[in-house]
Amino acid sequence: MKAIEIRNKYLNYFKKQGHEIIPSAPLIPENDPSVLFNTAGMQPLVPYLLGEKHPLGTRLVDYQKCVRTNDIEEVGDNRHLTYFEMLGNWSLGDYFKEESIQMSFEFLTKELGIPAEKISVTVFAGDKDCPRDERAAECWKKAGIKENQIYYYGKEDNWWIAGEEGPCGPDTEMFYDTGKPACCPECQPSCDCGKYVEIWNNVFMEYFKDKEGKYTKLEQQNVDTGLGLERMTMLLQGKETPFDTELFKPIMDKLVELEKVDIIESRRIIAEHLRSSMMIISDGGRPSNVDRGYILRRIIRRMVRHMNKLQINLDEISTLIKINVENLKEMYPELEKNYETIKSTIIEEKDKFVKTLTHGEKEFQKEMNKTKDQGKNKIDGQIVFKLYDTYGFPPEVTKELAEEHEMTVDIKKFEELFKEHQERSRQGSEQKFKGGLAEQNDTTIAYHTATHLLNAALKKILGEDTHQRGSNITVDRMRFDFNCDHKLTDEEKQDIENLVNDWIQQGIDVTVEEMKKEEAVKSGAECMFIEKYPDVVTVYSIGDISKELCGGPHVKNTRELGKFKIKKEEASSAGIRRIKAVLEN
Ligand code: SER
Repeated sequence: MKAIEIRNKYLNYFKKQGHEIIPSAPLIPENDPSVLFNTAGMQPLVPYLLGEKHPLGTRLVDYQKCVRTNDIEEVGDNRHLTYFEMLGNWSLGDYFKEESIQMSFEFLTKELGIPAEKISVTVFAGDKDCPRDERAAECWKKAGIKENQIYYYGKEDNWWIAGEEGPCGPDTEMFYDTGKPACCPECQPSCDCGKYVEIWNNVFMEYFKDKEGKYTKLEQQNVDTGLGLERMTMLLQGKETPFDTELFKPIMDKLVELEKVDIIESRRIIAEHLRSSMMIISDGGRPSNVDRGYILRRIIRRMVRHMNKLQINLDEISTLIKINVENLKEMYPELEKNYETIKSTIIEEKDKFVKTLTHGEKEFQKEMNKTKDQGKNKIDGQIVFKLYDTYGFPPEVTKELAEEHEMTVDIKKFEELFKEHQERSRQGSEQKFKGGLAEQNDTTIAYHTATHLLNAALKKILGEDTHQRGSNITVDRMRFDFNCDHKLTDEEKQDIENLVNDWIQQGIDVTVEEMKKEEAVKSGAECMFIEKYPDVVTVYSIGDISKELCGGPHVKNTRELGKFKIKKEEASSAGIRRIKAVLEN
């Protein structure tokens, strides 16, 4: 079965079970500066998991594009990927353990045809915080899993939470038995010898963990599941690695044809990083020296370096991109749509890297010889940083180069220096994020205050449940996303516009105060991602019309805004509307 067939089967199966299909959110979270990329299907759904009503109901299913970057350096082995697709189904206060397990079992055995004997499951063993998940085990038995295929593990394996605090709960994981011989008599799903491969994770979100580490029962019990598409494809096709499936095969074959040196790890790195960078660029990512842009830069540069290692002419990158677009466009039509941008971005970044590479490699040689002369075989972190900062060498490139000469690098020191550097740039980019301000001048500051007024007006006209979902400001206009289940009528738009203009004309003072985050929340201050804020926050108020957690800056009085005009109202994504508006003098 091909990957796209698995995806379609999944969406259709859950649709039949009363789920609404929602589109994949872009890889780059629109309103969340704290994470670089979407790393799981649940991420764009957090507000709904926390209790907000989703416009499409309580049963949802989707495929979500994900990038996880903590294991970049592992890519090249037989399983790690930076980009992957996660299939997921959600119950938002709807079904819970029994139905979720029953559906997973039915999907795996009936739809995908995996024999029940090849499936093992793990459930939460219980600890001082929460009891053993007997219910999940019971449901598995009822569904058709034998007692000896059920394993009990602690929080390290069978508990899921995003970060330190928030909604969480025990999970149950499904493992596929590859049929390989057991590595030892104790071999079981938690063993990573390769006999058992995790295929699906169902999280039963029934608790809330607070900052003090205390667990309380959630009012709304959710189910959040995630099934890795590449892995499932590989298993169902009886392949050893995702690189042997149709998702990567055309690129892998082309690389064999082009290469002069045969290194399988390098081939995998090129194939994986190419797909990943194409997906990121297609969703709006661009290489830079900070945050997401830096990850993208690293991925592209690492790919280029490995092309060099295989002695592949770098001009062939265009050929490889073309092959990938052809191969993947059925799954991701956006790749074809954004083909030109993808191509020019990657080629431009490659050219930049090639320029620095020669200088950097010379510098590396020099520093390496110096280090050797000093009788050491560990390259100083300062040098790694200099190579990064001045020559655009990602540290892992320096590390790989060092390893080729049987040397190591002081990554710890590098990381310290890098952190300092990042802190400096972060301060800049955080400033930028606040309210989505790209640059701060009188115009953008006025637009920023206008977003607060618009936010307040939407609540008055559309209902108190209307909240900001994102915003973006340029000197020419403001863009504002909010939840709403319908296209605004002309009358609604007019009412909103009038209300904002009324407030502007009233000349209301904008005030700012600092307070503890909890107090701010208690006082009813509006905020998009409460958990992302520090303990002490700034709260901007516009008379008694608006109160929001916000970094500012804002105008002093609404009179400074001019005339507010809605230019466009359109859908942004499922259940999210977007307003583009201007301030006229
Ligand atoms: N959120 C869970 C995970 O990432 C299930 O989707 O594994």
